[in-house]
Amino acid sequence: KRVGVLISGSGTNLQALIHGTQTSDTGAEIVLVISNKDNVEGLNRAARANIPTKIIRHKDYPNREDFDQALHNELVRSGVEIVCLAGFMRILTGQFTSKWKGKLINIHPALLPLFKGTHAQKQALDAGVRVSGCTVHFVEEAVDGGHIITQETVPIELNDTEETLTERIKQAEHKAFPRALEWVAKEKVKIGDDNKLVWKL
Ligand code: GRF
Repeated sequence: KRVGVLISGSGTNLQALIHGTQTSDTGAEIVLVISNKDNVEGLNRAARANIPTKIIRHKDYPNREDFDQALHNELVRSGVEIVCLAGFMRILTGQFTSKWKGKLINIHPALLPLFKGTHAQKQALDAGVRVSGCTVHFVEEAVDGGHIITQETVPIELNDTEETLTERIKQAEHKAFPRALEWVAKEKVKIGDDNKLVWKL
């Protein structure tokens, strides 16, 4: 399956997806990386792997609908079949998410449905939970909603800061995201007609 990855930053998850798809038979090939920001490290990672990149700046569009339409057009032009959100820091419109339903996956740095939204790691520390982790899920219009594909847990240490916990969660993300992409690419999990997940693991 042809995969497009949307990023806004450092792209360590993109790197894990590149590694996963290039080193084993995952049924997925990354054919396009789109960033909404210039000069981010994720673009360099894609370039080093010879993956085409495109910058689509949200600031160049008058509203979310037009920005999302530009993303959609570019993905379609490249024949993308599955889209991964890997640290993409824009909220997508329902118009976009419904067009990519069952083909659009996101990684979130907490065990959903806990700690949705931004600063999930700080939310976990503030709540005093003793484990956290990451979640890969199908994207629906509700932010950080949608069916859960896979999760990884990490312990929270007594001396953790937002930075140390973020780093530990990223290590977990780099295992979870390639696994989830493989399952979606090989249709081991999909959204069925009744809107429930269908598993063939
Ligand atoms: C990850 O923690 C991801 O969960 C969140 O944004 C971060 C992206 O990190 N949505 P990176 O750019 O992949 O290093």
